[in-house]
Order: sequence, then structure tokens, then C-alpha cells
Amino acid sequence: MARTARSEAVPEREQWSGQFGFIMAAVGSAVGLGNIWRFPGVAYESGGGAFLIPYLVALLTAGIPILFLDYAIGHRFRGSAPLALRRLGGRLGEGIGWFQVVICALIALYYTGVLAWAGSYFVFSFGEKWGDDTLGFFTGEYLQVSDGAERPFTLDFVPAVLIPLVLMWVVTLVILGAGVVKGVQRANVIIIPLLVIGFLALVVRSLFLPGALDGLDAFFTPDFAALADPGVWIAAYSQIFFSLSVAFGIMITYASYRRRRSNMTGAGLVVAFGNSSFEILAGIGVFSAIGFLAHQQGIGVDDVEGLTGPILAFVTFPAIVSEMPGGGLMGALFFGALTLAGLTSLISIIEVVIAAIRDKFGLTRGQSVAAIGVIAALSIVLLGTTSGLIALDTIDQWTNNIGIVASAIITTIVVIWIKRRGGELARHLSAVSTFKVGTLWVLFTGVVAPIVLFYMVVEKVRDLITGGYEGYATWYLGVAGWGSIVLALLGAIILPLVTWRNDPDRFDEWPSKEQLRVTKGALL
Ligand code: ALA
Repeated sequence: MARTARSEAVPEREQWSGQFGFIMAAVGSAVGLGNIWRFPGVAYESGGGAFLIPYLVALLTAGIPILFLDYAIGHRFRGSAPLALRRLGGRLGEGIGWFQVVICALIALYYTGVLAWAGSYFVFSFGEKWGDDTLGFFTGEYLQVSDGAERPFTLDFVPAVLIPLVLMWVVTLVILGAGVVKGVQRANVIIIPLLVIGFLALVVRSLFLPGALDGLDAFFTPDFAALADPGVWIAAYSQIFFSLSVAFGIMITYASYRRRRSNMTGAGLVVAFGNSSFEILAGIGVFSAIGFLAHQQGIGVDDVEGLTGPILAFVTFPAIVSEMPGGGLMGALFFGALTLAGLTSLISIIEVVIAAIRDKFGLTRGQSVAAIGVIAALSIVLLGTTSGLIALDTIDQWTNNIGIVASAIITTIVVIWIKRRGGELARHLSAVSTFKVGTLWVLFTGVVAPIVLFYMVVEKVRDLITGGYEGYATWYLGVAGWGSIVLALLGAIILPLVTWRNDPDRFDEWPSKEQLRVTKGALL
């Protein structure tokens, strides 16, 4: 009796309307800029077809295991990242949750900027406004980029960027303000099918362009020697992490909106393989188009420059569009896809922050969406100016390569080794899901993943300390790069000291430990 009364006192949590809504939202979060502008170039530069080997290994040994870990934490402890991790591991757990929340807030700053650019380029596609010099147009006429060594931070606003940036924030916050089902789920259920159809049309069109086969040949020809290079393995693990949206707190948050009886691992496999399929599809589409560009310019695919990131999207792709008869439509498809894929990821990134402040301070959804206005204002100041590209590049480098990876290492070590909850979470997943997990999952999550990730993060830190980044001013890297990590650490230390509006520990796990036959302290 007492037990029921306690459960009823816990505030109602919003819920997806079912498995389909959740899968669409989780796929929407996973499929983003990482799939479209990052994967094709990374794969090509890291062994071509042979990259699929480390990629698959990374997916199976770290991506899917940590995705399941996020699902298990969110679903069992039914909260935003700080709340769920607090229920699992006290103040230490809560600190990890806040670390993830701050990292998401920082990623949101620049991710919205990219969406603003993609939205502008969608419009520019119709008249191919970028002309013949696509690099000059992007960095000069459009972004008016300042010198990264001399003036890495300016307050010179660029109206052509500022307006779409404000619009993107409005659209995102309106969707988030409408709630989990009416906002996030509905947006994803509409956008994901549109995205898949639009992107498939783009890939099919690219496949029929002259030179497409040379592009595919360059993309898929395996260079097995590359597998001896640790850098290639690091690239595979970091690609999987960013792309699957694991260790951001996103999947903890999204899983917390699932009903108690929900097939978690089954959905996870659909999301993971769906995301990778989209990634490979993007590789095929992008490289067919690059093969076409090489063909038109009479050069080899190897000689084409600008194969990843903003340069691929905003310089190389417009050049391809300009070479094509009726290219405007192709440009609209590409930038439309980039905008939609990015929007659904951005929604998930900001939902991490919204859910966390709601849980901690007992705010309504409307109040917490209004509080995100602070992040939006900062994003507008950072990305709407002539130094926006530099801010994006720097914050992205540190938050992704250090922040998210560190978050994954700490989470796995704390959950599996310090709090010894691996067995409980494995049994939880198996109790509710069709695909069962056990020893192998705990081994990958608790041993393989943290070892590989630790190696990765150490290499990256060494690299950034010794080599700096892109020649940007050292003081700037200290503030925007290392400062991002320090900010996340401060959040992790200070926010757990703030009192919760509702007692986070008034909560009953389901199924109970007794039902799961969990032995205290056992690893499995
Ligand atoms: N998973 C998202 C992406 O790939 C963050 O962009």
C-alpha cells in the first residue's frame, strides 16, 4: 500500500505514444550532420572500403553497447540525465549527468548555426547564388569570416546569417515547447520519412551522373594498410559516437519517456542499423556526386579537395550543383536534407537541457523552454558574427572529441565498476526487451569501450596541447576550447550541490531488484 502511495506522488512524466514514435525520434536524433557531412569524407580518408571494418567493430563494441547503457539508465531510472544518473549513483552520478547537459548546451550553440547556413543555402540553391567561386562566396560574401589568428572573436554581426539563425531558434523552441508527443514526436514522424525520400532521390540522381562510378570506386576501394594506423580506429570510434548520439545524455532522456513495458534493445538495434544505413547511403550519394565533379573538371577523384565538414557541404557541394544541368533542384534536396536531419538532432540535443532543468527546478515545459533563451542569445552572439565559423570549429573540436568521449568513459566506469549496476541494467534490459543482453554486453561496456576511448582521448588531448588548432589564437583556444570542458566540469561539480525541487530519490524501480534477482555488489 505504502509503495503505491509513494509511486503516485512522483510527478507524471511525458511519454511517447508508442514504439514507432520513439524509434522515429531516436533515428531523428542519430541521423544528423554527422551522417551527411562527416561520414563520407572520414571513411574515404581512413581506408575507403576497408574503413567499414573498424567502423563495424566500433559499432558493435562501443556504439551499440553504450546506446543500450543509455537506454537502460533512462528507462530504469526514468529521468533526465542528471535525475536518472542521480537515482543510479547519487551525487557522483548526478555530476556526470550535468556534465552531459553542459556539453549539449555547448553543442546547441553551434549546431543551430550550421542549420541556419543550411537553411540559407536551401534558398540560394534555386538561383545558384554562390556563383563560380564557391569558397569565396561561403567564407567571404556570406559568412564574412574574420582572421582566426588575429580576430577569432568579433561582435560584427552578419545579417544574412543572423536572420536565419534567429528563425532556426524560433522553429526549434516552438517544437520543443509543444511537448514530447505533440512537438518532438510529431516533428520527427513528419520529417524522417520526408528526409529519407528526399535523400534517396538525391542518391539516385547522383548515381546516374557521369563519373559517379569513379567516385564510388574511390569511396569503396579498400586500403587495408590503413587498418594498421591507430588514427583510423580512432576515427571510426569517434564517428560512431557522434553519429549515434551516445553519451550526450540524449538517449537517457529519450528512453525516460518510454512506457515501463517497452522493447528497448529491439528498438536500439533498429536505430543503430538504421543510422549506419543512412550513413552508408550518404557516402554513396556524396561520392557519386564528387566523382561527377572530378569528371567535369577533368581531374582524378583523389585531387578533389574539401571532402568533409562545412567545406564539403558549403563549398564542394555547391560547386557540384553548379556543374549540373538542373542542379538547383539537387542543391535544394541536399540542403533541405541537411536542414531537416540537423533539426531533428538539434531538438534532441536541446531536450537534454530542457528535461534536466525541469526535473531539477520543478519548472513547466514552457518555463524551461523560455530559459533556453539564454543559450539561444549566446548562440546568436557567437554564430551570427564574422567569427561564427571559428567558434563552431573550435567548440565542436573540444566538445566532441574530448567532452563526449570523456563522458562515455566516466559513465561506463562509474556505472559498471564503482556503482556496480551493470548486472542490474543488463537484467532490466533483458526483462523488458526481445534481444537479451548479458556478460558480453557488460564486458564491452565496462572494459573494451573505456579502454579504447581512454586511448582516444589521451591522443586527442596531446595533439591539441602540442599542435594547437587550425592556427587560431592560443588565448581563444583556451577560452572557447578548453573553457568548454572547464565549464562542463564546473557544472558537474556545482549543480549537484543545488537542492532538488522534488526529492529525486522518491522513486520505485520497476522491475524491482528482487524481481530481477540482482545480488548487491555483484558485477553481473
Ligand atoms: N547524431 C547527431 C549527428 O550525427 C548529433 O549529427
